[in-house]
Amino acid sequence: MEELNVAVIGCGYWGPNLIRNFNQINGCTMKACCDLDRDKLQRMSSLYPGIKTTDNLDDILSDESIVAVAIATPVYTHAALAKLCFKHDKHVFIEKPMAACKNECLELIEAAEEKNRVLMVGHTFEYTAAVNKVKEIIESGVLGEIIYIRSSRLNLGLFQPDINVIWDLAPHDISIILYLLQELPVGINASGKAHFKKGIEDVATVTLDFPNGTIAFIHSSWLDPDKIRKMTFVGSKKMLVYDDISTNEKIKIFDKGVDAPPYYNSFAEFHFSYRYGDIFTPRVQEYEPLKKVCEHFLSCIRDGSRPRSDGYSGLRVVSILEAANKSLRHGGAQQKIDYEKNSSKEL
Ligand SMILES: NC(=O)c1ccc[n+]([C@@H]2O[C@H](COP(=O)([O-])OP(=O)(O)OC[C@H]3O[C@@H](n4cnc5c(N)ncnc54)[C@H](O)[C@@H]3O)[C@@H](O)[C@H]2O)c1
Repeated sequence: MEELNVAVIGCGYWGPNLIRNFNQINGCTMKACCDLDRDKLQRMSSLYPGIKTTDNLDDILSDESIVAVAIATPVYTHAALAKLCFKHDKHVFIEKPMAACKNECLELIEAAEEKNRVLMVGHTFEYTAAVNKVKEIIESGVLGEIIYIRSSRLNLGLFQPDINVIWDLAPHDISIILYLLQELPVGINASGKAHFKKGIEDVATVTLDFPNGTIAFIHSSWLDPDKIRKMTFVGSKKMLVYDDISTNEKIKIFDKGVDAPPYYNSFAEFHFSYRYGDIFTPRVQEYEPLKKVCEHFLSCIRDGSRPRSDGYSGLRVVSILEAANKSLRHGGAQQKIDYEKNSSKEL
């Protein structure tokens, strides 16, 4: 197997997780990492003495032995850094959200296609065992039609200086929902409040309307005493709860539902019947999702295949985030989501 040399830009909170994973994968050499902060580099040097550290991006760009770069810097820097990497013929992995606006996403897709390089976005949850189990269950039809989805991603912090809580946390919920439903929402409402930094909402809710009638509610917060990562899928036949924090019972299927009477002649005859059946917990074989993410990126480089979370996938998520901000600025009014015409490319 061809050895691939990789570099990581950004050694803050998340970058070191990428470095650790690339460093553990056979057939991959974690060659260099870059950050503007020398303390962060010092920490990486002490953890991985064999990895070159630099605060000068040119060291990475000009090193022809480095074929791929993973970017884990603040969102507003993603596009400029990725463009430079493509210019120097590198394959690029960018953490979520892909970029700060749709136009930047389009430019990156174009740059990757022009250079015939892999562009992958870090929609980590699409690679988790639990989300893939939920996908298998939904596709088996056990739940029936998905009527509505509720997703909560709450914690105390981590406050971001440049993006609101929707841009920070909801990319996970949105990418999971698109991956599971294989549909694009058409309308969106978002409301939220900025309590600590003007213009940066720290608590928010987003509602996504799908053309087939499914509705999804996403609650994102940096202001909660509990760490919650929980999604509920209410189907016409059964209901499913996916709790990412749970260690042993991440997924529960509830044989619960409500049936309306097929016909009735008077109000007295009208009764819903509620079903309270068994609860089933399928086994989920866990693994570290970020390892899968890194392996997938490397295998796409090797065989030239398109990543599951490619540039178009990043563009779809950013299109929804942009529409969410528009709704926030219009007092929560519903907005039509404007996708680029090729956004639905192999959803
Ligand atoms: N997939 C996930 O589950 C997940 C989780 C957390 C964060 N993230 C994403 O990872 C990215 C980074 O988030 P974070 O929480 O690690 O941020 P962070 O602020 O902790 O770290 C960012 C690092 O980038 C460095 N940096 C900034 N500009 C740079 C530049 N031009 N060149 C080199 N280094 C530069 C900073 O010095 C800092 O050390 C974001 O896109 C975030 O959304 C993804």
